[in-house]
Formats: sequence, C-alpha cells, structure tokens
Amino acid sequence: SIDISTLMRETGHTTLDYGFVNTASTTSAITYIDGDQGILRYRGYPIEQLAKNSSFLETAWLLIYGELPTADELAGFDDRIRRHTLLHEDLKQFFTALPDGAHPMAVLSSAVSALSTYYEHQSDPANPEHVELNIIRLLAKLPVIAAYAHKKSIGQAFLYPDNSLSFVDNFLRLNFGVMSEPYDVDPVMSRALERLLILHEDHEQNASTSTVRLVGSTGADQFASVSAGIHALSGPLHGGANEAVLKMLAQIRDSGQSVQRFVERVKNKEEGVKLMGFGHRVYKNYDPRAKLVKESADEVLRELGVTDPLLDLAKELEEIALSDDYFKERRLYPNVDFYTGVIYKAMGFPSRMFTVLFAIGRLPGWLAHWRELNLDPQTKIGRPQQLFTGSPEREYPTA
Ligand code: ACO
Repeated sequence: SIDISTLMRETGHTTLDYGFVNTASTTSAITYIDGDQGILRYRGYPIEQLAKNSSFLETAWLLIYGELPTADELAGFDDRIRRHTLLHEDLKQFFTALPDGAHPMAVLSSAVSALSTYYEHQSDPANPEHVELNIIRLLAKLPVIAAYAHKKSIGQAFLYPDNSLSFVDNFLRLNFGVMSEPYDVDPVMSRALERLLILHEDHEQNASTSTVRLVGSTGADQFASVSAGIHALSGPLHGGANEAVLKMLAQIRDSGQSVQRFVERVKNKEEGVKLMGFGHRVYKNYDPRAKLVKESADEVLRELGVTDPLLDLAKELEEIALSDDYFKERRLYPNVDFYTGVIYKAMGFPSRMFTVLFAIGRLPGWLAHWRELNLDPQTKIGRPQQLFTGSPEREYPTA
C-alpha cells in the first residue's frame, strides 16, 4: 500500500486536504463566520440585524459593493432590475423542450447556461460595464427562470413579470398567479420569503461559491460561473438538503417508526440514513440562520393559517438529537436547511422547488464573490494539486 507521507515528501507537497477542511483558497472581505460562536456577518453587519431590517436587494448591494446603498442607489438598482426581468421570447422554447417532471434545479442551471448565448457580445469579464450589466441581468432573470421551471413542472402557462411589483412580490406572482386572473400578494408570505432569501444570500467559501470562484478564475463569464454554482448547490449535502429534510420527515411520518428509532438508525450509520439538515463544516454551534428560521416557522405557519405535523416532527427530532451524546460529541446542530422546507411548503412551493429558492437567495453572494475575484490582482486560475497513487509506467500490450 502507498505511504502518503512518503509520497508527499517525494512530490514536495506539504498538504493533502480532502474536502479543503483546512486550506484557504483566497482572501475575501465579504462574509465573516465564527463557527464556534455561531456568528455570521455580511460586510460586518450581523445577519440578525439584516434579516430584521433590510431587504433582499439592499443586502445584495451590500454584499456586492461593500456598503449599504444610499436611498438613491437602492432605488436605481431596484429600477434597473425591474427593467431587465423579461426573458428573450426564444428562451421560452427551451423550457418546452425539457421532459415533464424535469427537476427544477436542472432546469434552472441549464437555462442560466442558455442565457449566456444571448449575451455573448456583452459578457467580457474585463469590461466593467458588462460585469455590472450582467449582475443586473442575473438578479432580474433568475427568479423568472425559477418561476418558469416551477410552472413547467406543474403544467401551467408562464406569466410575464409585472414590473410594478417588488422583487419578492413579482416572484410570488410568477409562481402562484394564473393567467388572466388577478393575484394579490399575501404580505405575510412576502415578508417571510424576503427574510429567508436574506438569510441565504452569502456564506463565504461554501461548495457552490467555491465552484463559482473556480469557474470564474478561468476567465469564464458570470453566466457560466453561476450556472456551475447552481449545479454545485443541487447536491443533498449542500443546498439540496432542504428538499432532503422534508423527504426525511415525510418518510419518518409514513413509516410509523418513532423519532427515537430513526435517531438510533442515524447513530448506527445505517446505509443512506443521515439526519438531513443537521451538521455543518463550519458551524460547531447552532447555525444562527437556523435559529432565525426556526423562529419564523411558527410565526409564518400561524399567520398563514397552516398547521403541519411535519413541523412538530422536526422539533421533536431536534430535541432528541440535541440531547443525545452522538450529536453532542460531534457538535451537530440544525443548519439553515432544517426548518426552511416546512415554511416553503406552507407557502405552497413543491419540495422540488426548495433548492431553487436557495439558489435565488444565494445569487447575490455568488455575484459578489465572482466580482471580488475578478477585481483582485492576485487572482490566478484555480488548479488544485493531487497525489498520484496509480500505476507506474507500463507497456501497452501489443499482440
Ligand atoms: N447526521 C448524522 N451524522 C452526521 C451528520 C448528520 N447530518 N453530519 C455529520 N455527521 C457525523 C459524521 O458521520 C461524522 O461522524 P464520525 O466522526 O463518527 O465519522 C462526523 O459527524 C463529522 O461529519 P463529517 O461528515 O466529517 O463533517 P463534514 O464537515 O465533512 O460535513 C456536512 C458537513 C456535509 C454538512 C454533514 O454534516 C452532512 O452531511 N449533513 C447533512 C446534510 C446537510 O444538512 N447539508 C446542508 C449543509 S448546510 C448548507 O449547505 C446550506
């Protein structure tokens, strides 16, 4: 067997870091996390204050440009985004070409890739005007694409955006409005969704953001980089966990097994059984976002007049897990995904849309990181090393 230390000495490598547990790939001034204390700040502002007082677009500006916008800057940003919501009519054909039942995350990433073909002449990373324009385009169009992915999955007609509506209200109407009928946005739902989107806006060098950076480091444009980020987010260990949590809760309920029994199966590491929505690479304390989402869950369900036994099940699961030595020793706490699904479900989103909602929330972070990387003179193409453990040279067998 191969001795890794010898291999490292021979090849001059000083680290072998599976999963980049202890390797910084960049400097960044965007988001600060203290995982031991459960602290998250965007550009210095605590997440709790932003979730309470800010809007999704204001926080997006903050992440991308480093300071809170003035009232005029925010109004201008909002206005430009509203004016860029339309998709090229031809792009709609793209949705109809996909199979019924296509997962909305796959539709989302593919459509963002396809979007790049319309803006090839205006997507030069070295041109600041192109970069700024594509920030606006992506923020404006991603929610529309997401809503069309939803409509496609339920066989309903696509609505045109209504640019008299705010970012979040427009998105809700595109998802839940139906052709030729008025749609009144529920303010409870609107504020709750805005809050959830703010909580998702950035999380420093997570897997999808690192993907956006890696793709961006090759000189690829924002569409290609964001599309790759969406793919990375789709995995169940990352953004896909919010969908997986709801599936897990429904399975526990349907199986009739007790929550305690399920926790035992998790602890016994039964094949494929994990407590989804628990654990985090960085947080070894309660995820501050999860705390806020948990507070919201009760409030939103009550205000929307929805009761969901899955919320009670989630709380029971959390309580049992948090008092169990297995989870205590490993410092496993609920992460942001644990309670979001229950709220999205109460709003009427199908579970396959949950990770899409995460993607819309995370977009400003991806754009902020792409821009930071693009402006940083230290940027080099990302190119990890490997330790080769395969066969030494051998002869190709000739007859
Ligand atoms: N359920 C049960 N055990 C767990 C869980 C979990 N959710 N998470 C970690 N563990 C255990 C591991 O089995 C391991 O135990 P061991 O030491 O006996 O081998 C120990 O805790 C450490 O876990 P790692 O997998 O090494 O931690 P890592 O930092 O690599 O993974 C991750 C973090 C991927 C988030 C993991 O906790 C997980 O899979 N959680 C469930 C999926 C999830 O909720 N993902 C969303 C993350 S947040 C986000 O992306 C928005």
